[in-house]
Amino acid sequence: MSIAVQPAHQKSGYGTALLKWIVEFFRKSGASQLEVGTGTFGYQLAFYQRHGFRVTSIDHDFFVNNYPEPIFEDGIQLFDMLRLALKYPSKVA
Ligand SMILES: CC(C)(COP(=O)(O)OP(=O)(O)OC[C@H]1O[C@@H](n2cnc3c(N)ncnc32)[C@H](O)[C@@H]1OP(=O)(O)O)[C@@H](O)C(=O)NCCC(=O)NCCS
Repeated sequence: MSIAVQPAHQKSGYGTALLKWIVEFFRKSGASQLEVGTGTFGYQLAFYQRHGFRVTSIDHDFFVNNYPEPIFEDGIQLFDMLRLALKYPSKVA
């Protein structure tokens, strides 16, 4: 939910490298799925879906109920949080 790269270093591949590392780490740990939460629009949504995450549910008003200040992305206020999951294929014995 709180992955971040310093603004001056964004769009340089660090976020992708970080997410790939996390996905592999938990795959090797035997996790059945990874869950993330992000806004309902914006490049972050594409970022997670590009790595195989699928939308599972929506948390209405998450950003107004859990943050002290309104959050804006591209001039649009964020209200709702989408929950996404990456399911790891179950291992066949
Ligand atoms: C989301 C975040 C962690 C990605 O890290 P990053 O180092 O910028 O990621 P990458 O350089 O690997 O880029 C990943 C994709 O996001 C896109 N992207 C990154 N920053 C962007 C921006 N400000 N505007 C538009 N697209 C952006 C890149 O173009 C890339 O897309 P591509 O694969 O089609 O080229 C980083 O942008 C960030 O810290 N954002 C602010 C905090 C945030 O929103 N965190 C996510 C909370 S759910």
